[in-house]
Amino acid sequence: MIDIRDTTFYYNMPQDDEEDAGRKPALSHISLTIAAGEFVAFLGRNGSGKSSLSRLLNGIELPTEGTVSVEGHVTSDKAALSAVRRIVQIVFQNPENQQVGITVGEDIAFGLSNIGWPQHDIANRVAWAINLVGLDADEDRPVSNLSGGEKQKLALAAVLALAPRCLILDEATSMLDPVARRQFVATLHEVRKQYPFTLIYITHHLEEVTDADRWLLFRAGKVVASGTPNVLAQDTRLLEDCGLELPYYWKLAGLLRESGISVPSDMNELELRELLCKSS
Ligand SMILES: Nc1ncnc2c1ncn2[C@@H]1O[C@H](COP(=O)(O)OP(=O)(O)OP(=O)(O)O)[C@@H](O)[C@H]1O
Ligand SMILES: [Mg+2]
Repeated sequence: MIDIRDTTFYYNMPQDDEEDAGRKPALSHISLTIAAGEFVAFLGRNGSGKSSLSRLLNGIELPTEGTVSVEGHVTSDKAALSAVRRIVQIVFQNPENQQVGITVGEDIAFGLSNIGWPQHDIANRVAWAINLVGLDADEDRPVSNLSGGEKQKLALAAVLALAPRCLILDEATSMLDPVARRQFVATLHEVRKQYPFTLIYITHHLEEVTDADRWLLFRAGKVVASGTPNVLAQDTRLLEDCGLELPYYWKLAGLLRESGISVPSDMNELELRELLCKSS
């Protein structure tokens, strides 16, 4: 479990002089818990604090005030940091910033060596990770030859090889085209069926997180709402306030309901299309 207690975070602490008096924290008085195995989406407009909170969760940054603890390890305790970084892994927006190996195999093996994975088992683990994410590339393939979608799958394979118990994807699909994006999200859900790790998914695309357990809405460094997608999706003013737009088929379902047509709240895009086809 992740526990965030009254956490405030400044990239640069304000000094007592006048110039700094108006400096705003990136995160302000955040308190929340994330349960083991939960799928939580961090949502909000640019600069609202989503990435900053994810950095606090794996100890890249430490809270200025308050505490962040991961499975009981408090991130500001230096002795606990390596455990925290082992438990919480992040995949960022640009896969190229995370790739360190010349070949696919080297890239995955690098992280494993770093955490002291038994040397004799590294080759097995590399093959396992490639297979797990369905990356259609052998270990000797140069990373530079992969497509954008394949590079992102490699980044996912490299972190999953490390057996994280919490995975944060920070706009990991934003550089992919729609087809590669759908494939990546489908791969992720397939993997979670086998290894139900905690998933924190940061995105500007609500359609990628309609099946999340919970949405957390960020605004100006604060978490202003926490709830299931179905409940928060009703509050269009709140979503607008947080710079979020519902997927078109959710809006359509809302309009149909307003005109008296019964549309179940958990209906997905395909089911809604079928309903419309049947009734036309
Ligand atoms: N490295 C940094 N140094 C100083 N300030 C930063 C740094 N990174 C982010 N900030 C500031 O912290 C605040 C929160 O930014 P953050 O990157 O967490 O937002 P975000 O919700 O992830 O936005 P986006 O959707 O654009 O990725 C913003 O005011 C931002 O300008
Ligand atoms: Mg961000």
